[in-house]
Amino acid sequence: MKKDFKRYLITSALPYANGPIHLGHLAGVYVPSDIYTRYQRLRGKDIIHICGSDEHGIPITLKARNEGVSPQDIVDRYHAINKKAFEDFGISFDIYSRTSNKIHHETASEFFKNLYEKGEFLEKTSEQYYDTDTNTFLADRYITGTCPHCSNQGAYGDQCEQCGTSLSPSDLINPTSTISGSKPVLKETKHWYLPLDKYEPWLKEWILEEHKEWKPNVYGQCKSWIDQGLHPRAVSRDLDWGVPVPVKDADGKVLYVWFDAPIGYISATKELTEDWEKYWKDEDSRMIHFIGKDNIVFHCIIFPAMLKAEGSYILPDNVPANEFLNLENDKISTSRNWAVWLHEYLEDFPEKQDVLRYTLCANAPENKDNDFTWKDFQNRNNNELVAILGNFVNRTLVLTHKYFDGVIPPATTLTESDQKVLNEIQTIATSVENSLENFRFREAIKLAMDLARLGNKYLADTEPWKVIKNDEERVKTILNISLQITANLTLLLEPFLPFSMEKLRGFINFKETTWELLGNAELLKEGHRINKTSLLFDKIEDEQIQHQLDKLNSTKEENMNEAPVTPQKPEITFDDFTKMDIRTATILEAEKVPKTKKLIKMLVDTGIDQRTIVSGIAEFYDPEKLPGQKVCVLVNLAPRNIKGIESQGMILLSENSNGQLYFIEPGEDAHNGAEIN
Ligand code: MF3
Ligand code: ZN
Repeated sequence: MKKDFKRYLITSALPYANGPIHLGHLAGVYVPSDIYTRYQRLRGKDIIHICGSDEHGIPITLKARNEGVSPQDIVDRYHAINKKAFEDFGISFDIYSRTSNKIHHETASEFFKNLYEKGEFLEKTSEQYYDTDTNTFLADRYITGTCPHCSNQGAYGDQCEQCGTSLSPSDLINPTSTISGSKPVLKETKHWYLPLDKYEPWLKEWILEEHKEWKPNVYGQCKSWIDQGLHPRAVSRDLDWGVPVPVKDADGKVLYVWFDAPIGYISATKELTEDWEKYWKDEDSRMIHFIGKDNIVFHCIIFPAMLKAEGSYILPDNVPANEFLNLENDKISTSRNWAVWLHEYLEDFPEKQDVLRYTLCANAPENKDNDFTWKDFQNRNNNELVAILGNFVNRTLVLTHKYFDGVIPPATTLTESDQKVLNEIQTIATSVENSLENFRFREAIKLAMDLARLGNKYLADTEPWKVIKNDEERVKTILNISLQITANLTLLLEPFLPFSMEKLRGFINFKETTWELLGNAELLKEGHRINKTSLLFDKIEDEQIQHQLDKLNSTKEENMNEAPVTPQKPEITFDDFTKMDIRTATILEAEKVPKTKKLIKMLVDTGIDQRTIVSGIAEFYDPEKLPGQKVCVLVNLAPRNIKGIESQGMILLSENSNGQLYFIEPGEDAHNGAEIN
């Protein structure tokens, strides 16, 4: 941090109100932002934490159409569900607003008008695909067709997922609307564009020079966007759900959801306080956006360009975006129901919010995608929260009740090692601070737990349960110190484990929540009385974990049964079939095609010859393990050029319910060149 800021404006990505939030959202955005905000609050900082529902965008209108209800019905439903989920997990927003409300429509509308009047937008008319069945213009994602590069029939209007090429809808052969299945027509439409190219030199300077401290994953993504060159971006859409474009001749047009949503941070602040301008317009305010990696370009490039164009707002000082969290080795997916929904978690683990907060923070996808497993969750609970933190606190409190009737004994004579232990509290607190200030939450929670480890070790070394037999004075000191550590723990762990620390404060009858007190060796005064206690954490049994795994397994099975089956293709003759020459073959060599995500180039022995084939399987197979693999190859397919490589044939693949491709394998003893028919 370069300067001393007077106040903090923390924003957390506004989740779309078209589905419930799951543990991936918590891990990537809301647990870190909440920890950070709670920590700064304990330090007495002027800080507000802003969030709300993002209630516009096409997916919401489609969901409404599918269910035969209005978009407002959809967003009302999920706004309520998500607001409650955040509350239940102690995510302490100062406001959880929504972008369908009046104050937001006014704010976004004014923002647009302001830029419009300054002449900031380009106006362009272009031809776009229009679905005449549903009377809607089609966003790129809602058009599929055949990829001109690799002939994949399911390429999207913005990208072919098979060969990785980015496309525009007009590149597709045989475009089809995914909404109605009909053939879309091209139709002229006018839109407003934010000229990002104009802001490129400034963005380069501001991010690449002045914000070198941003996380490498964030800085790197920004750099790659800027290096590729920025282009004007449309900020309006043809749609009837959203903030209407507030200028003449804009009937049926709304602001692009990514234009209005970040302005939602401003509207929500306005709703929260009359004093909103000091947070947004005073250079002494520090704005920090907490987001997931798919939001980086919007928060680091587009929204800052909007704010810059407007001119009176501050810019984010940091954007600590996280990568993604997987679940049991598979991408979290709402449509496949591969997720842990927060309300379901609480049904199975009531009052164990902190266990999830702890696991998600300790295992956060900070620098790379990471995996959540139930086994790890159980281990973190049993081996860390129960065995270290809970155990230390419980022994300290039980012994205090047992030997001194719950009254804090005096620390009479401190040994050198007692003093060392007390000094260590401050050292740990300082390192936790340092990690939090730098958005290293995994490190912070690990360091914070060191204080509990310290306490545990102190008890193990001093053994008050043995010493009590002949030296009660010494035990007084030992327990006094253990109790001071306990009181310090309530402060240090409050940002991470707010529910448990509230409970612990109750046990020890301690009300302070001021970070500055950390390191103090007299937080609990001699003669202070503690309350009745119970366990802070309890063990999670194997059966509970198995139950969760069973649930996921049954999801897998359901997906398998419900995997959509495409309708049968038009009839062909036997002759048509015999035209296809399919042979058994063996892969000899395989390597990843550089600069693509999915392609592997292979040398294949077909029995007839050895030839090169390119296939989109890199996500599913490791090229190093492919040599020796037997496959089936359509050998008389006309050669195709894929990313500059001539692919001579096609390897037959099928797909499982998770969208994973796998080889159709011939029998073990099939010889290369054997015909398949
Ligand atoms: N709704 C978006 C998402 O879930 C995030 C919007 S963040 C905001 O990816 F900046 F636009 F508000
Ligand atoms: Zn393709």
